[in-house]
Amino acid sequence: MKIMVVGGGGREHAIIKKLSENKKVEKIYCLPGNGGIAADAECVAISSTDIPAIVDFAEKTGIDYAVVAQDDPLILGCVDELNKIGVPCFGPNKKAAIIEGSKVFSKNFMKKYGIPTADYEVFDDPKKALEYLKTAKIPTVVKADGPALGKGALVCMTRDEAFAAVKEIMEDKQFGASGDRIVVEEFMTGPEVSVLSFTDGETVIPMVSSTDHKRALTGDEGLNTGGMGTVAPSPYYTEEEKKAALEKIILPTVAAMKAEGRPFKGCLYFGLMITPEGPKVVEYNCRFGDPETQVVLPLLKSDLLEIMLATTNGNLKDVPVEFSSGAACCVIMASKGYPVKYEKGFEITIPDDLKPFVYVAGAKLDGSKLLTSGGRVLGVTAVEENLEKAVPKAYERCGRISFENAYYRADIGKKALEALKKTEV
Ligand code: AMP
Ligand code: GLY
Repeated sequence: MKIMVVGGGGREHAIIKKLSENKKVEKIYCLPGNGGIAADAECVAISSTDIPAIVDFAEKTGIDYAVVAQDDPLILGCVDELNKIGVPCFGPNKKAAIIEGSKVFSKNFMKKYGIPTADYEVFDDPKKALEYLKTAKIPTVVKADGPALGKGALVCMTRDEAFAAVKEIMEDKQFGASGDRIVVEEFMTGPEVSVLSFTDGETVIPMVSSTDHKRALTGDEGLNTGGMGTVAPSPYYTEEEKKAALEKIILPTVAAMKAEGRPFKGCLYFGLMITPEGPKVVEYNCRFGDPETQVVLPLLKSDLLEIMLATTNGNLKDVPVEFSSGAACCVIMASKGYPVKYEKGFEITIPDDLKPFVYVAGAKLDGSKLLTSGGRVLGVTAVEENLEKAVPKAYERCGRISFENAYYRADIGKKALEALKKTEV
């Protein structure tokens, strides 16, 4: 089979490495991929949002199956366009991808179906939003309706911050038209857990849970980023929380999307907060998480391609989806200064024996040299029998990889290990 993966970060690298385990896979293309992915797939210089060029490439190359891994092309309807020329895809169509594409849609959807989430109000007029915020409960969270590279949710600890958030999003249009409408949300507390799930629109199979570390700096300091490291399974997702999430959130969401005439096929990502009242939805994503995928897929024992094909063909219930009982940790090695300003173009040195454990997010090739080309550069992983072993192992590997201006948090998995100790007592 000739497979095409749309996207070009660490998540796509993890997907490609896993897909390569299936003997039916003859060739994998990655659009656009990156210099590190080039070791495992043929990278093609087509932007992941250039849908006509993606469709044209798929047609000319005779692609048998496409994995649309990134949010933007999914929200833009890449799957619909590929389906039109007869290319089956892993990922939701445009009608279903709206679950991530519009916060207003997802909040109204959860309200309609009684799925636990933060209380909220929607505004399309900044004056009305500011008026509401004069008396709203603080802290609060102001979110742009549309996609904003993961930066569209502003947690406001003071009233002034909330006023400023409305101005930034609705008046200064920091996220363009994505800020035409906003959601103002109740502030929730509790640890966050990501639950990625395979679904064919009917059957849903949650994967092993994980926890991301969104802040840039050690000690949960600094700005929110795309994610600086992950561990799986998440110690906060106890059997009790898991049962509650499945019954109140995961199964109802998939059934409700079907009832809405928007059956969701692909990977549905539940961003949950384990609040004192139980798990609630912080956000839905219409795709695998990054860097959650880098810890979840290495723990998958079953064949990824067979599962993906089953989500497309609607026979997920007949396919085994098993995870190992071990644990995984991924530490993101970033360029110093990310997510604001950073230098690029430094040579990356990865010892050969570590290459199977490194997912490349932001690097380009210069001849045979690999150079940094992004904020998040590498995801360095370890899979061990438990988190106590996986976390130090991932750090030991980071210590053997070098590039100038490398920065990584020193505390990925620290809170998770503390939480594990508490539950053992
Ligand atoms: P989102 O883009 O909706 O995932 O939000 C980004 C991050 O902001 C989340 O991962 C949370 O850490 C935080 N956040 C979002 N909504 C809330 C909320 N209602 N209460 C507390 N924190 C939130
Ligand atoms: N790690 C968060 C995300 O993929 O949205």
